[in-house]
Amino acid sequence: MSKATLTTVFIAFLLTSSGAKPNGKNKKPKQAVPAIECDMRAGKISLSEFIVKCPANCRETKEKVYGTGVFASISSICNAAIHSGVITNSGGKVIVMKMAGQAIYKGSLANGVRSLSLPNWRESFSVSVGKPKQGVTYPSTLVFVPSRPTTVKTGEPKDLPYSTVSPVTEAPEAEPSSTAAPPTTTHVTIPITTSAKPRATVHKVREAAPAPEEHKPPSETSHTRESLAGSNPFESGFSAQGHDLTARVPELMSQGDPNCKVDIAFLMDGSWSIGKRRFKIQKDFLVDVSQVINVGVAGPMMGIIQYGDDPVTEFSLKQFSSSKDLKPAISKIVQKGGLSNVGKALSYINQHFFSDANGNRGGAPNVAVVLVDGWPTDKVEEASRLARESGINIFFVTIEGPDENEKQNVVETNFVDKAVCRTNGFFSLPIKSWFALRKAVQPLVKQVCDTDRLVCSKTCLNANDIAFVIDGSSSVGTGNFRTVLQFVANVTQEFEISDTDTRVGIVQYTYEQRLEFAFGQHNNKADLLNAIKRINYWSGGTSTGAAITFAADQLFSKSKPNKRKIMIVITDGRSYDDVRAPALAVHRKGVIAYSIGIAWAAQDELEYIATDPDRDHSFFVDEFDNLYKYVSKIIHNICNEFNSQPRN
Ligand SMILES: *[C@@H]1O[C@H](CO)[C@@H](O)[C@H](O)[C@H]1NC(C)=O
Repeated sequence: MSKATLTTVFIAFLLTSSGAKPNGKNKKPKQAVPAIECDMRAGKISLSEFIVKCPANCRETKEKVYGTGVFASISSICNAAIHSGVITNSGGKVIVMKMAGQAIYKGSLANGVRSLSLPNWRESFSVSVGKPKQGVTYPSTLVFVPSRPTTVKTGEPKDLPYSTVSPVTEAPEAEPSSTAAPPTTTHVTIPITTSAKPRATVHKVREAAPAPEEHKPPSETSHTRESLAGSNPFESGFSAQGHDLTARVPELMSQGDPNCKVDIAFLMDGSWSIGKRRFKIQKDFLVDVSQVINVGVAGPMMGIIQYGDDPVTEFSLKQFSSSKDLKPAISKIVQKGGLSNVGKALSYINQHFFSDANGNRGGAPNVAVVLVDGWPTDKVEEASRLARESGINIFFVTIEGPDENEKQNVVETNFVDKAVCRTNGFFSLPIKSWFALRKAVQPLVKQVCDTDRLVCSKTCLNANDIAFVIDGSSSVGTGNFRTVLQFVANVTQEFEISDTDTRVGIVQYTYEQRLEFAFGQHNNKADLLNAIKRINYWSGGTSTGAAITFAADQLFSKSKPNKRKIMIVITDGRSYDDVRAPALAVHRKGVIAYSIGIAWAAQDELEYIATDPDRDHSFFVDEFDNLYKYVSKIIHNICNEFNSQPRN
């Protein structure tokens, strides 16, 4: 899917040989100081400690700064330096030292710069006056995270995910620059598109996260160091100075982020059309996501599938259990080539990837994030629907999607809307250009971790909180009560039971009410069926109305917001109390009520209890032995109703 308009972009890597090398004649090494611009954020530079030179008048740019003294790494270095009083508004040299992330950054007003407060960022820095200590030499060139262009010319520089920077080696004072080793400059030409998707779309992505620019985990620096070791000409010189960088970098938690317990399959585009360079950007993106999302056994686990003609599992969900291990694994992925058969890949993950043998944890929602360059070469609608119905939440990240002229080439129009279950934008991230992909890291991580909103994969069998309200009055009798329990067990048997799927709670009532067990008290099927079997027959009067109110208070009040609340009342006689008001009250709370009457049950009460239309929610059998006939009927109706409701 090649793009319409191509613009040439020059990237200059300024590969200077270090001016800091001591040579015999010059005992005092000169410190070369790379210049940065006002908008340069500390997090963009993958060094633990470095020196930079800020230009004048940064205060006027009002670049954002978060914190006081210690700043979140998304802050502008120069403005943080002005805020701290390290430089004035006329610019100057600043030494930056990276630090661990903090739980809170407090904003303040200082030296004419208003810094903001920010909770919980993963990396910090402090600034000090740009005078290197005796014997300490800082890198003469900055290393960016990840390795990326340092100078970009484009018609729309604002849309690029990084700032435009020209590292300039400052000529040592009192020494003509011609005597210094000449800088080696490499120009790399890469195409980027300027054929834009509507601005609004890009805007949406931006707004999804307050500060999408930069968010590196605390370990980033050390990782970059490891991966660059031996290949980066600056790294060895820097390390040789004897700085103990690793000591400042906190350890990764292999437990992962417990607030993001999801099993994620990333489907990466390996088709030929994507090209080598974009494939690399895609890998960098996945590396970033893997670092930000904080992978671990008690948090998110991720695997990667590369698709082309056919999908191939690069690694399963359980293969790597920390962000640290994922980074080199992702970097090593080799492009396979072929078409962009996304539909085929979705069928593949549905049938093979999310298996227990592959590390599918069951208790964690399944998420598939599909990265698409342009558009797929096959149809995705059917495969997506089947995947969603088996519980997979599908996200589409489309990069450089079809523009107006290209739409005619697309196999399936509006393929994203057809593939995701909600067209409200939550499950789709359209990215204007490959260079803007990086901005999607934060919004994407936020969205895939928002487990309360991962309800699109919900089906009629896994999306419910079901309360059975069982008549235990004397008229039922022990034998029939066992039949009722068998009926409850048979209905329960059909649902997917877990804490994140369908949950079941049971109330038995006579004149009084008894909570047999609450939602989630037994959250696997075997335990639940056992608990149902163990319920003891109570025997007594029949107060169905009070029992409904009791179920509302004891069970539905603890229902999760994304669950469908279903109540199934089973009774064999007329109630001593009024059922109408209690039934109305639970209907108003969004409970879908079914009534099952046996033998002496009163038809009018069954209809009061049931949600309208009654014929779909109210059943009557003349004897207990015929109850079994309604197992499939009730499942069928629950599913029918679920499927007929709008999903958007
Ligand atoms: C429950 O299921 C079993 C096994 O299918 C069946 O024999 C029994 O009649 C069913 N009972 C009720 C009450 O649904």
